[in-house]
Amino acid sequence: MSTLSTRFLGHSFASPLMNASGVYCLDVTELKALESSASGSLITKSCTLEARSGNPEPRYIATPLGSINSMGLPNRGYQYYLDYAKSFDYQRKPLFMSVAGLSLADNLKMIAAIRDAALPAIVELNLSCPNVPGKPQIAYDFSAMDQMLAAVTREYTQPFGVKMPPYFDFAHFDEAAAILNRYPTVAFVTCINSIGNALVIDTETESVVIKPKDGFGGIGGDYVLPTALANVNAFYRRCPDKLVIGCGGVKTGEQVFQHLLAGASLVQVGTALQEEGEGIFARLNTELSIIMARKGYSSVESVRGKLKTL
Ligand code: SIN
Repeated sequence: MSTLSTRFLGHSFASPLMNASGVYCLDVTELKALESSASGSLITKSCTLEARSGNPEPRYIATPLGSINSMGLPNRGYQYYLDYAKSFDYQRKPLFMSVAGLSLADNLKMIAAIRDAALPAIVELNLSCPNVPGKPQIAYDFSAMDQMLAAVTREYTQPFGVKMPPYFDFAHFDEAAAILNRYPTVAFVTCINSIGNALVIDTETESVVIKPKDGFGGIGGDYVLPTALANVNAFYRRCPDKLVIGCGGVKTGEQVFQHLLAGASLVQVGTALQEEGEGIFARLNTELSIIMARKGYSSVESVRGKLKTL
């Protein structure tokens, strides 16, 4: 018999599956749907100091191979998610809070408030939003990322994680991992955010398909699975003292299994959750269990990092 139950940073999870921040987590109604779902945990929408309405619509479009979005961090402001975290039933499943301040000072203020609330919620610091005009992705500026982590780890001494963008070169895997490894309390690395600033074109209308940034946006879904697996495995290999959360291109149990093989401890679902709804978690759990049983794996831990090379 295989079990999907697992442990992560001292918390118990009935399944390794959860939503990717940004999907089904804007408000309490959506978050409650995730609470009731078969996900093992859930994460709140990346928050900023003040509430934001985000970029103009249309700002998310599903395509045959996935999705493109330029949401622009619409969210209710950090206090809303902190209030939700204070009322959350942690006996039911673990909760992650995603934080995406527009500046270092904003991040420090939000992180200090979360710290002072002394909750069991796990922080994921988003260093990779590609969609706020005029705000480059922090994790593509290694010096800014280092400064951010130095300041945040001084303010917040609990273990936390970082949401990373995809990298495409071994030199960048090496440099990003070396920076992360300077910070022992960066306990996990979530790979990957959407592949930023892609362009989807509708041939019939001869137009872009989303309004913000002249149509440029982050892509997810089938487009990104191999890039996500590469980044999970690259950081799994380079950050032996950290855990990895896989995110990108998951719509079947087989793809969850591939993320685990690459080194993920937990796996987030984005585009497929948006398109299928929260019922996807029950289906993915069943499909993952069937694959694990067929291959003789008794636990999530026994799959993790078992990827073979030739
Ligand atoms: C967004 O709100 O634009 C998406 C957030 C992200 O990709 O980090």
